[in-house]
Amino acid sequence: MNREKIIVIDFGGQYNQLVARRVRECNVYCEIYSYKTGLEKIKAMEPKGIILTGGPNSCYGEGAPGCDQRLFSLGIPVLGLCYGAQLMMHVLGGHVCKAPVREYGKIQVTVDKESILFHNVSENTVCWMSHNDYIEKMAPGFQVAAHTPDCPVAAAQWEERKLYAIQFHPEVLHTVEGKKMLANFVFQACGCTGDWKMDAFVENAIKAARERVGKGKVLCALSGGVDSSVAAVMMAKAVGSQLTCVFVDHGLLRKDEGDEVEEVFGPGGPYDLNFIRVNAQERFYQRLKGIEEPEQKRKIIGEEFIRVFEEEAKKIGRVDFLVQGTIYPDVVESGLGGESAVIKSHHNVGGLPDYVDFKEILEPLRDLFKDEVRQAGLELGIPEKLVFRQPFPGPGLGIRIVGEVTAEKVRMVQEADAIYREEIKKAGLERSIGQYFAALTNMRSVGVMGDERTYDYAVALRAVNTVDFMTAEVAEIPWEVLGRVASRIVNEVRHVNRVLYDCTGKPPGTIEFE
Ligand code: XMP
Repeated sequence: MNREKIIVIDFGGQYNQLVARRVRECNVYCEIYSYKTGLEKIKAMEPKGIILTGGPNSCYGEGAPGCDQRLFSLGIPVLGLCYGAQLMMHVLGGHVCKAPVREYGKIQVTVDKESILFHNVSENTVCWMSHNDYIEKMAPGFQVAAHTPDCPVAAAQWEERKLYAIQFHPEVLHTVEGKKMLANFVFQACGCTGDWKMDAFVENAIKAARERVGKGKVLCALSGGVDSSVAAVMMAKAVGSQLTCVFVDHGLLRKDEGDEVEEVFGPGGPYDLNFIRVNAQERFYQRLKGIEEPEQKRKIIGEEFIRVFEEEAKKIGRVDFLVQGTIYPDVVESGLGGESAVIKSHHNVGGLPDYVDFKEILEPLRDLFKDEVRQAGLELGIPEKLVFRQPFPGPGLGIRIVGEVTAEKVRMVQEADAIYREEIKKAGLERSIGQYFAALTNMRSVGVMGDERTYDYAVALRAVNTVDFMTAEVAEIPWEVLGRVASRIVNEVRHVNRVLYDCTGKPPGTIEFE
């Protein structure tokens, strides 16, 4: 199927995935490519429009990321954002230099309502600015489409050529009418119709997987997380009993999670996944004995997981395809899509694992953002409870227990975490916090319980809001809720006598607590 597509050319800015997500929210498919992508390749993709993103450089600086001037005369509409806007001007003969006044934060922008970009946008509208450079002189052919007191060219356009430049960031939510602006570009300037719909995607993905697999045998590692669950159910719908799903319970899951996963995906549940549960808890605890260093723990858990999985795969015999729940941000963050630095080594995209003998890897969710995976899950009829499950790291509670992992500590953190989640749910905050969990610190301190002195562990509560998991802000949970959680934890979880709330954002903290 030839679906309409917008291409985002990535110049290394921090909001670039967000640009693509916003376009997809308009029901238009969108992919991210590095600025190094050649013109011929871009042409061959036949995009309906091109968006140049922001980036950390000065476009006139030595070695700054550039673009082929011919990009602007392909007859394809181009929208430049921040760095992209400046680059467009620079390349086409305008002048960009250091701004006399640096703008950062929410700024009121006055727009020209006649401009296609600002159709239906208020004349004075709050936008998110973040720039040191500015467009001092537009390239020939362009007209000003918006300004601020300090930035005479906050937006510019060359309508006949369908070239648009915006100095601010319409993709971030602080730009109050940003979605409208992007929708104007996508629909009015590029003429998209909005053919990217999840039901059609799911149907096509199932059909494509069925054709690709033929009579082959398919193996899937199911963790119970959103991505692998959706991938597994999609494959089950595609190839039925040719699929086997292996669920390794490493003993580092949340409270009762192993049983819950089995209930949904195991025999007698609503899906036919040829579900095999491997209870490998003891093996993992043994391997983790005495290990305190977080990276070493991660390594051991990863290696042991592969070992267990391999043993199961051998029992199954010949496998033709291995399913992975890779999603689009993994592709981008692994440096295969856009320009972002490789941040997470745990995303094993592109490299085939060598521990199972198989012909090919299947990644049915490779094109989807997380929120789209959830939508796909709902389309497939997966229970909401699973679909809206919070992100949970592969190494599980192993990286939420500071210091040595023991079965006893796993119990403590499981119980504390279950109480925390229960109270957050009761307070109706479940969907309004990005990620929250309890971790067990390695600190013991003196307390008093009844008439007895205690010398027990402190639990740390974490709750953050985040757009992309690369940065995060601490979520403000009402004191009364925190108080209730703290009091329940110290009363109900044996060997915990203190509860701390982690007020650190990312950076400088990470989201996990290891
Ligand atoms: P950090 O702690 O790096 O976490 O700020 C960012 C996001 O990534 C998740 N995370 C992981 N997910 N395997 C995963 O599948 C991992 O090893 C891992 N480490 C962190 C974390 O839960 C958060 O959502």
